[in-house]
Amino acid sequence: MTTTNPKQVPYGAYHKTRVPTYDPELAETGPGTPTGEFMRKSWQPVCLSEELTDVPKAIRIMGEDLVAFRDRSGNIGVLQRHCSHRGTSLEYGIIQPKGIRCCYHGWVYDIDGTILEMPAEPNDSRIYETVYHGAYPAFERAGLVFAYMGPPEEKPVFPEYDVYRFPEDTKLVGFSHIYHCNWLQVFENLIDPVHTSFLHSGEMTVDSADASAKEGVTAPQAFYSDLQVVNWRPTRNGHGACFISGRRVDDDVVWTRSSELVFPNLVQIPSVFSSAHEARHATLCMSRWHVPVDDSHMIIFGWRHFNNQIDRYGDGREEECGVDKCDFIDGQSQRPYDVGQRAPGDWEAINSQRAIAVHDLENPAGSDVGVYLCRKLLRDLVRGEAPELTARPMSDDGSQTLHSYGHDSAVRLPRQQDREKDRELIGEIGLKIFDIMAEADAIDSESRRSYILGRLDDLDGGLQEAAE
Ligand code: FES
Ligand SMILES: [Fe+2]
Repeated sequence: MTTTNPKQVPYGAYHKTRVPTYDPELAETGPGTPTGEFMRKSWQPVCLSEELTDVPKAIRIMGEDLVAFRDRSGNIGVLQRHCSHRGTSLEYGIIQPKGIRCCYHGWVYDIDGTILEMPAEPNDSRIYETVYHGAYPAFERAGLVFAYMGPPEEKPVFPEYDVYRFPEDTKLVGFSHIYHCNWLQVFENLIDPVHTSFLHSGEMTVDSADASAKEGVTAPQAFYSDLQVVNWRPTRNGHGACFISGRRVDDDVVWTRSSELVFPNLVQIPSVFSSAHEARHATLCMSRWHVPVDDSHMIIFGWRHFNNQIDRYGDGREEECGVDKCDFIDGQSQRPYDVGQRAPGDWEAINSQRAIAVHDLENPAGSDVGVYLCRKLLRDLVRGEAPELTARPMSDDGSQTLHSYGHDSAVRLPRQQDREKDRELIGEIGLKIFDIMAEADAIDSESRRSYILGRLDDLDGGLQEAAE
C-alpha cells in the first residue's frame, strides 16, 4: 500500500533519522541558564542526612561540583568542592570540630566559607583579607539536607506545607532515586497520570502478555476498563499545577485523587496505598524534589510521609526508604537490565526518553495536556512572564503554612448506564473537590479539614439524589 501522508510511510525510517536538539531553555540548569537561575531561587535538597558521615560527601547539583559535610559540632556545610588554595577536592578533607580541613596544605574552611586557618602562612597574611571560599547556606530536616544556591539577597523562607505536620503523627522519612537523564522528563512524569494506567497497571510485563495470550484476552481492553478520567488545573496563580483523576471502583464508588506540582521542581503525591473504598480525603504520601545533577543526570530527593492515615493497613515500610530506594512502587530505581526489560517501571520508561528528551520529536496527544501545561507554566515563570505568587503568607517559624492541593478521596457516585456520561460525571466530581479545596485555602489548617469533609458529604448526597 502506498500513501501520500508523510507521517504514514511504511518502512520510512530513512526519512526520520534527523534528531533535532533538545529545548535548552527548560533543560539546562547550569549557572547563568534561565531555568538554572530560576531553580536556584528556592531551597533544594542536595543529599540525605545519612550520607553525611565522618567523611565529606562529594555532590554535584545543577552542574556545580560541591562537597557536603556535617562538622564535629553538628553544623552542616555545603562548599564548592575545589579548595581555594590550589584546587584539591574537599571530598578528601578532614572534618574538624569547626569546618573542614583540606588534606593538601591544611587550610580550614568554616561552613560559611570563611577561611579559619592557613597553617603555612603567617597569622597576619593578607590572604585572609582577599580570599573567600564559596559556600551555600544549608540546613538539615527530617533526613534531607537542603541548600540555597541563589543570590544571597533573595534567599526565601523554606515553604512550609500543612502536610509536613499533619496528621499529628506524621513522620517524614528521606529517600532518593537516581536517574540518568534530564530533570524535566522525571518532573513531567507526575502530571502524566495516564501512564499509571499502563506502566503501573501490572499489565506491561512479559509474564502478563503471556497470560493474556493464553486466555485470549487483549490487553488494551483491560487497560481501557481502568483508564482514569483526568483533568488539569493551574494552582497558586500559575506557580503550580494539579492533576485531578478519577476512576470507578464499583457501581457505587469512584476514587478521586489529586497531585500537585509546585515550580520549580516539587511534586506532592497522595497515597497509592489507601483502600480506594475507604479513603476519605486522606493526605499525602510523599513530597519529591526533582534536582538536576547536571543536564543529563538528576536525583529525586523526597520525604515519604508515614502516618496512621496513609499507612493504616500497615503497608508502610519505613526501613525501605533511604539512598536510591523507597517503599513506593517498584521500578523507581535502577534494577538489573533484564528485570527492567521484562517488567519496566518509571526508571526504564523515563531514562529511555533519551538523556535529554527532544520535544520537537514528540507527537502530543489528548492525554498530554498536563505535560504541555507544565512546560508552558514553567517557561512563563523562567521568563518572568507569570503573575506574582499569591500564596498564603508564611513566617520563618512555620506558624503560617501553605495548604496542599493533594488528596485521595472515595466518593459515592452511582454508575451511569451510558459509559461516556459516567466518565463525564467522574471528571466533574474531581473538579468539584478541587474547587472546594481552592475555596478552603483561606481557612486555617485546624478547621480546613472538617470544612472539606463536610462539603464532601454534601457533594455525595447531592450527586446521589441527582442520579436517582
Ligand atoms: S590545595 Fe587545599 S590547602 Fe592547598
Ligand atoms: Fe510512574
